[in-house]
Amino acid sequence: MPYAHITGWGMQVPEPVLTNDDLAKMVETNDEWIRSRTGIRERHIAREDEFPSTLGLEAATKALQMANLAPTDLDLIICTSSSPEYIFPATASLIQDQLGASKAGAFDLSAACSGFVYALNMAAQSIRSGSIKSALVVGAETLSRFVNWKDRNTCILFGDGAGAFVLQASDKPGGILSAVLHSDGSGADLLSLPAGGSRNPATETTLHEGKHFVHMDGKEVFRFATRVMGHATIESLELAGLTTKDIQWIVPHQANYRIIETAAKYLKLPMDKFIVNVERYGNTSTASIPIAMVEAVEQGKIKSGDRIVMVAFGAGLAWGAMTVEWSGPIPAKKPVSQKRYRLLARLRSFLLRAIRFIEGVLSRREL
Ligand code: UT7
Repeated sequence: MPYAHITGWGMQVPEPVLTNDDLAKMVETNDEWIRSRTGIRERHIAREDEFPSTLGLEAATKALQMANLAPTDLDLIICTSSSPEYIFPATASLIQDQLGASKAGAFDLSAACSGFVYALNMAAQSIRSGSIKSALVVGAETLSRFVNWKDRNTCILFGDGAGAFVLQASDKPGGILSAVLHSDGSGADLLSLPAGGSRNPATETTLHEGKHFVHMDGKEVFRFATRVMGHATIESLELAGLTTKDIQWIVPHQANYRIIETAAKYLKLPMDKFIVNVERYGNTSTASIPIAMVEAVEQGKIKSGDRIVMVAFGAGLAWGAMTVEWSGPIPAKKPVSQKRYRLLARLRSFLLRAIRFIEGVLSRREL
């Protein structure tokens, strides 16, 4: 049975930064409150022309560059997002087109902030089963579009960004070692975006009532998160036949520093075992784990052979943990120019649209 290795990684955040002091000019809050309750100092906010697909595309291109893999060699693209571009089509399909990943299937996976762990596991299982050889997993967010900038309970928390991993099959043991996924839908109302779906389609009333914004019972989500994080970490480690002594790092969902501290206490581990960057990005939902991982690799913290647990929680309620042995890129045979593939992808997309248009005209004539 082939192993699923993480061979490429990339991240992208929008340039504009919103600090706590900036927020204090918008709602009744202050830097001290936000930092002491959440650990967040600043977050990146997408410009008008940035979307999950554009941020995701940049992160994906960097991941493919790292893996030295052509987009045309991808078998599968999974995008996970709490702020998808549309209900449909899938953001994954938009990324597939812009990458020119001509033979890849593409779909979106919805599991809120746990999406990246869920999506990685789906991709890894497809590789482990032998049905595919390579996959791209993207977590991409512009949650700032769904945040009520007048609600101090939520607007201080979230940020925008994207992270992506390339997974490839190899006979060498390692890569994704285990995963546990959990859900408790009885807590669905604790964190939600109530309108815009088929239960509450957009109307003047839903807009007026602010139901197109994130709604959250912060205290309950906090309690849930602290309850499940440590437990899921242990479960995932046990499945891999490991204990906390065997791992170098834990990469938690970056929602709140205090939640991570509580998990550390539960696991009886020092905070320096945890990769934490919530202070600079806020909660980027599905993108928070890959962004934290990419930064930790770039800073030389995570190295080949390290064993790591990624653990996530969020709306659903859904949570999960995954144990991996960090592989690093497969040595390259011939460098792949992602720039050239990007140009080819644009041309390909244009030609496909043109052909579809011509075929449409011709078939109408035939009728
Ligand atoms: O991906 C998962 C996403 N969600 C989460 O992870 C959220 C989990 N929850 C949390 O992180 C925390 O519950 C929050 C950071 C959201 C809130 O922290 P808290 O310690 O639970 O504060 P609280 O809601 O109990 O509020 C305490 C006080 C309240 O005032 P009173 O009633 O005691 O007078 C709030 O009105 O702080 C007030 N408050 C604020 N004050 C200044 C709430 N938000 C703010 C604010 N600035 N931004």
